Formats: sequence, structure tokens, C-alpha cells
Amino acid sequence: MKIGIIAALAAEAENITAKMEEPRRVSVPSLTFTEGKIGGADVICTVCGVGKVYAAAAAEAMILKFAPDLVINTGVGGTLTDKLTIGDVAVASSVCQHDFDCTAIGEEPGAVNVPGAEGAHIPADKKTAREIVAIAERLGVRTCVGPIASGDQFIADRERKKKIVDTFSAVACEMEGGAVGQVCAANGVPFCVIRAISDSADGGAPEDFPAFVKKSAEVSARIVTELARALG
Ligand code: ADE
Repeated sequence: MKIGIIAALAAEAENITAKMEEPRRVSVPSLTFTEGKIGGADVICTVCGVGKVYAAAAAEAMILKFAPDLVINTGVGGTLTDKLTIGDVAVASSVCQHDFDCTAIGEEPGAVNVPGAEGAHIPADKKTAREIVAIAERLGVRTCVGPIASGDQFIADRERKKKIVDTFSAVACEMEGGAVGQVCAANGVPFCVIRAISDSADGGAPEDFPAFVKKSAEVSARIVTELARALG
């Protein structure tokens, strides 16, 4: 099993690469991949940078260069549900892009044209989502499975948050998962997104994000590391 892991920030990847046996660096002009083993799994991890453009570029490069069997987008996110608070984990049943908008020409909000998409929602791999939930439960981490919404916006506003929830029924927001999911779907590669909550995506988010990003990133990294062991 070969697992590709994409994180936006170094803090979201470093606890995964630290667990790799015999890590090797492989660079393409815009990205560095760390290749190694976790348990029996071959793992390739990269830090793509913030936002959907970098995330899409990393997913395409990952697939072309390494042909992973599964791609995981990991890191932190803002909660959109009272079922999740800081340190809990959102697991994607699907991903969507809350800022993708062709409604003026008759499309549904967020609808992207990619194989397997149901309107705005691109389904994540169900078996992987179940495995992530089982691992989190074993570690005593609370999870919520649901749509994860991405956009090129840090959400820190009650109104914007409500609009995303009302339109997409999303449980968490972040800035990369929807792009990783779209590229994976376009290439027929299974994917999932896991996000530990760093903030509430409202007026408190600008303070909470820097205060909790490192600790929450450790939570998602721990679960992804265990996932690699379980799948290897
Ligand atoms: N990642 C973590 N918190 C976020 C937020 N509130 N909005 C977008 N991305 C995030």
C-alpha cells in the first residue's frame, strides 16, 4: 500500500515525517516530497502551502510522480458544528469548494464537473473514513464525519460560517481538501481528508488558530500515522 499525504503547513506534516523509517527527500521544482515507510506502508508526504492552487498542484504532482493507492489531506480546520470543538477531528464523507460559484449560469452552488461528484460534493473514500474514525476512537479523540468545505478564505466570521453550513451542510472548513479531492477524483485515486479542529471559524478564530494550530496538528498527524500502520 502506497499512501500519499498532503499537508498545507510544516507543522501539519512534521509529526508524520518524523515517524518515517529511512526518509528520503525527492524534489520537483516547486515541491519537496519525503518518501519512507511507516509500519508496512510506503508513505510519501509533502507540504504544499496554503490554498487550493498549491493543494491541486501538489496532488497532481504526487499522483504523477508516485502513483499512490490513496491520498490523505491532513491538518487543522475550523469547526462548523457544535459536535466538534478544539482538538476534536473532522473526517470527510465528501469535500466541496464553498467559493466555487457558477450559479449565475444555472449551476448548483459549488458544483464542480468531475467524475463521481454529486453537485458540489466529491465523495471521500468510505473505508478510509471508517478506519480513521476507528483509530481516533481507540485514541480517545472525538470525531464527526461529514462534508468538509474548502475555499481560499480563512473563515473568521459568523455570517460566512453560517452560509457555508446552510449551503453545504459542512462540519469543518479549511483551504485545501476540496482541491485535493477534485484532483484525486479526476485521476481516479481514492482520497480522504482529516482535520483536527484549531478554531471555531468565527470572531475568535484569529486568536484561536495560532494558539492551537500546533497542538491540533499533532492530533491529526498521530491518527494519520496510525492509519498508515493499519493499512500497511
Ligand atoms: N484552517 C483552520 N482554521 C480555518 C478557518 N477558520 N478557515 C479556513 N481554514 C482554516
